[in-house]
Amino acid sequence: MSSKDSTNSTTSITGSMNPIDSMTVLVTGGCGFIGSHLVRLILRERPNWRVINVDKLTYAGNPENIPDVNNATKPSRYQFVQADIVDGQAINALFDSEKIEYVVNLAAETHVDRSLIDSAPFLRTNVEGTRVLLEAATHYGISRFLHVSTDEVYGSLGPTDPPFTEQSPLEPNSPYAASKAAADLLARAYHRSYGLPVLITRCGNNYGPYQFPEKFLPLFITNALDDQSLPLYGDGQNIRDWIHVEDHVRALLQVLEKGIPGEIYNTGAGEEHTNQRMAEWVLDILKKPRSLIQLVKDRPAHDRRYGLNVTKIQNKLGWRPSIPLGEGLGVTVSWYQDHRAWWERIKSGEYSNYYRQWYRDRLAIVPQ
Ligand code: NAD
Ligand code: TYD
Repeated sequence: MSSKDSTNSTTSITGSMNPIDSMTVLVTGGCGFIGSHLVRLILRERPNWRVINVDKLTYAGNPENIPDVNNATKPSRYQFVQADIVDGQAINALFDSEKIEYVVNLAAETHVDRSLIDSAPFLRTNVEGTRVLLEAATHYGISRFLHVSTDEVYGSLGPTDPPFTEQSPLEPNSPYAASKAAADLLARAYHRSYGLPVLITRCGNNYGPYQFPEKFLPLFITNALDDQSLPLYGDGQNIRDWIHVEDHVRALLQVLEKGIPGEIYNTGAGEEHTNQRMAEWVLDILKKPRSLIQLVKDRPAHDRRYGLNVTKIQNKLGWRPSIPLGEGLGVTVSWYQDHRAWWERIKSGEYSNYYRQWYRDRLAIVPQ
């Protein structure tokens, strides 16, 4: 079969499968933050599904993010493959040897600040890696390809703008966001050009257990636990729309099973808050002084505000977030308190070089 003949495949491109049907899903980036929660959710709630987790194990990928899966899941239901999604040979070999029906593409370089230091890995993995997966999925004729995009593709909102809808123009401002926008559009193009049953989600800022501590909330929580400064960029008034990772992965499963190919679904919890408010919230939960907050030099092209209109996913698929931010944040802070070994190992490794480099001229005191 030519690589562009997938629309002739016997696999339905429109019908969602019954959740009790047996099936194999390829999750990329399953050792990262969101991917690990998705793998766990699928294995817990879809007992007839097999999960193949393809992850390169970059600095952000950690098999310790799914200890329960690694230790307790029957090998027949879960398989880990260490591979780079850019490696077409490895990806095609996997599709050759397995009957993969669903793909959920989460593998990516994800940190905006790192993309400002070096955009090359972002273009490589986020764009070329997505192309390799789309090409393989088209060639082998899979049933559904869920591409996990982000609200950052929309760019920035002004203070009184209505939240982004799926029709808002894409105006990415960082190399990370631009690479995600390119991948998002490429996924759309494979649907239009080759009939690949692509679904796209664009989610807001996630928080929860197992998030790599370079990101705002785990960085601020773990710094606060160590009585270190919390480096708040600019005037601290940038706004993000926060969602608990469990709510996000439930949305992903819903879109995977019930979404309409070719459609885009915004996903968010409508919890828009300034970074300063979030930082104070964390300090209040931990009973630490607000004086730990240090305003530092801003990130270039720092998007002022993200906010998502999620009417479509709510009305069309019946998905709703279920974890209020106040509750989710408290539980998340407790998780980092209880899992010091997990984040201390990360913070004392390669990450400490990055931290020194990025925060050197931002923070007055950077640990040597
Ligand atoms: P993460 O950085 O925690 O994890 C990324 C995972 O991808 C890691 O396990 C890493 O090893 C793997 N990976 C990276 N390059 C790879 C490659 N070339 N081949 C195979 N694996 C590779 O990221 P995350 O926060 O879990 O985000 C997952 C996805 O969700 C990303 O696509 C991101 O753009 C998107 N997203 C994230 C958020 C958020 O708030 N975290 C919000 C919206 C969308
Ligand atoms: P981040 O977790 O990097 O996510 P994103 O930029 O993709 O939204 O940052 C969330 C917000 O927190 C963002 O407005 C930048 C801000 N921030 C800080 O103020 N200080 C920091 O040290 C970091 C990492 C982020």
